[in-house]
Amino acid sequence: MRNNVAQLAAARDASGKGDLIAAGVALADIARSMHSIKRFVPNKGDKAAWDKTLDAVVLAALKGAGAAAANEKAGVDAALGELRRFMAVGHASFR
Ligand code: HEM
Repeated sequence: MRNNVAQLAAARDASGKGDLIAAGVALADIARSMHSIKRFVPNKGDKAAWDKTLDAVVLAALKGAGAAAANEKAGVDAALGELRRFMAVGHASFR
């Protein structure tokens, strides 16, 4: 989760500077780390919902990385917005 904070900020800053390669790498890192926590069972909330939410989070991050690879800043920024919404949903449901 600390990694998410750092990488989300890195992706936002990089996109703001037009460095879509750095933004894409940060988004890919969020995808990797959120996928890696899927094996855990959350203390709060249900495991099936956890898996479904994490899959959606990983896909949003990968789509953002794909947009970066296609040099589409709007797609990168849309993914950043989606990830912020997922953070609110994830924390309300599982934290
Ligand atoms: C992508 C943006 C997100 C950011 C920036 C973020 C950030 C954080 C931070 C700073 C913490 C507290 C410190 C820590 O435990 O490391 C935390 C805890 C937590 N987050 Fe997130 N989070 C994000 C998304 C999510 C999502 C999507 C979920 C669930 C599907 C989630 C579930 C949790 C849980 C369960 C905790 C508590 C962990 C514990 O107590 O061990 N987070 N998050």
